[in-house]
Amino acid sequence: MVTRKMLIIFGTLIIAAVVITACSAGEPGPVGPAGPEGPQGEPGAPASIADLTCTECHNDTALITGKKAPWETSVHGAGTATEYAGGRGACAACHSGASFSKMVAEGSTPNKWEGDFSDVTHQDCRTCHQIHTTYTSEDWALESTAEVPLFAFENVSYDGGNGNLCGICHQPRRVFTLTDGLADVNSTHWGPHHGPQTAVLMGIGGAGEPAEGKPAAHYSMIENTCVSCHLGENDNHTFLPSVAACKDCHTDAENFDINGLQTDIDAMIVELGELLEARGLWQDGHPVVGKYSEEEGAALWNYILIAVEDSSRGVHNPSYTKALLEWSIEQVK
Ligand code: HEC
Ligand code: HEC
Ligand code: HEC
Ligand code: HEC
Ligand code: HEC
Ligand code: HEC
Repeated sequence: MVTRKMLIIFGTLIIAAVVITACSAGEPGPVGPAGPEGPQGEPGAPASIADLTCTECHNDTALITGKKAPWETSVHGAGTATEYAGGRGACAACHSGASFSKMVAEGSTPNKWEGDFSDVTHQDCRTCHQIHTTYTSEDWALESTAEVPLFAFENVSYDGGNGNLCGICHQPRRVFTLTDGLADVNSTHWGPHHGPQTAVLMGIGGAGEPAEGKPAAHYSMIENTCVSCHLGENDNHTFLPSVAACKDCHTDAENFDINGLQTDIDAMIVELGELLEARGLWQDGHPVVGKYSEEEGAALWNYILIAVEDSSRGVHNPSYTKALLEWSIEQVK
């Protein structure tokens, strides 16, 4: 017999079942398997070699090799300072091509750059050109041609056209200073450091009375400064100047010794060197550590700037070079 009590229990069970079922609907089932692969498309036409922009450079001409051969013989390609200084933080931005490119990309300067300098390379194609960025011949563009703030000076920039690329590295690292009125020659590496050509062209960077000179005509009149004289019209990658580059202005030039300027400067360099040696300021190709009078220190500084570092034997800035050497000789005579 179905009693009333049983009916109530049965009804309660049904309601509970409905409630439980409603509260615990199952999770959605797993995603079904992927459908079968579609049929293979028609093969495309093979790319023509002529369509590859790589061939704008990589082709059967001497475009690359014609620059590589002279570069290999140049100091940028074969110099030994890369091994010595390329892997040192304070030096890498100028002495390792790979670090130089990173510094330029980061908008930094050689005295401030603190990036990763573990890859050490020479000053190679990728240092100066934007190789492999667009993969077209546009990549011969130079890494930078912006004017160069000379970091050893306050508010001085070198503005020499494409020569600005060179100026980032070829700038002095120090200027002449006095400590308690004396020149404190505290190391045999005292001086402006190598490569002060930018400053000399601008008529600055020397010491003593003629320290503030005038920019050379070779700075103001030659559009791409360093590049015009050192690479010339054929983009010569020995980076050595050519007499052809002088002839636009010095039409009769047969060598760099125009009007005997280099001969005169060489003689002054020899005279100043001997005077400094006689005074014990210069020995075996290096300054002698010590404290000297302002005049002696300035004469020593100018000797290092012109004879050892600038190395153009007066050409970069004829009148400034003459003024510095003449004054210096007078001080130590
Ligand atoms: C602006 C000219 C230029 C273009 C365009 C160019 N390259 Fe290069 N490539 C160079 C130069 C310069 C080098 C370095 C040559 C050297 O050091 O001997 C080089 C080197 C190479 C190398 C040797 C390995 C290396 O990286 O140094 C390969 C591989 C190469 N390029 C492939 C390519 C390919 C692929 C393309 C096109 C997608 C291309 N290049 C486009 C100039 C170019
Ligand atoms: C990345 C820095 C850097 C750039 C950019 C650069 N140079 Fe240099 N250059 C050097 C260094 C460093 C040396 C010395 C290398 C060595 O001795 O190993 C040098 C050496 C030279 C030398 C040889 C000097 C000698 O004692 O015989 C000449 C010339 C020269 N550079 C000219 C140029 C010109 C011109 C440009 C611009 C087109 C230029 N450099 C751009 C860093 C640079
Ligand atoms: C602002 C860029 C710059 C920095 C930073 C720099 N150098 Fe140089 N250095 C040059 C240039 C440019 C030359 C090549 C100058 C020339 O031959 O006229 C050079 C040349 C040299 C040479 C070769 C000199 C010779 O007579 O053959 C040595 C060695 C050297 N540097 C060491 C160092 C060391 C060590 C540091 C770091 C403490 C350093 N440099 C930092 C730019 C720089
Ligand atoms: C020290 C810097 C420097 C280095 C290193 C260098 N070049 Fe150059 N290169 C220049 C400059 C500066 C020019 C002239 C650019 C201008 O006047 O517009 C130039 C021009 C060229 C041109 C002519 C570009 C054009 O637009 O017609 C080629 C090609 C070239 N370089 C190839 C190379 C190759 C290949 C290497 C490596 C083996 C190399 N360069 C290394 C600075 C450099
Ligand atoms: C008026 C043309 C001219 C300009 C502009 C010029 N140079 Fe020179 N440079 C020369 C001549 C000429 C020499 C001396 C070469 C010789 O006597 O053998 C020289 C010498 C040098 C040397 C020494 C080379 C060596 O063999 O020891 C370096 C490094 C140098 N220049 C770099 C530069 C840099 C960097 C710039 C730009 C900031 C520059 N030059 C601008 C013409 C020029
Ligand atoms: C754009 C024209 C121009 C070019 C190119 C040029 N010079 Fe000059 N140069 C001058 C002018 C202007 C002067 C005189 C003003 C001065 O000394 O600053 C001069 C002066 C000189 C002097 C001093 C001559 C004297 O009588 O005392 C020498 C040396 C010299 N240049 C060498 C060179 C050499 C070497 C080259 C090529 C590597 C060269 N110049 C390229 C314009 C030029």
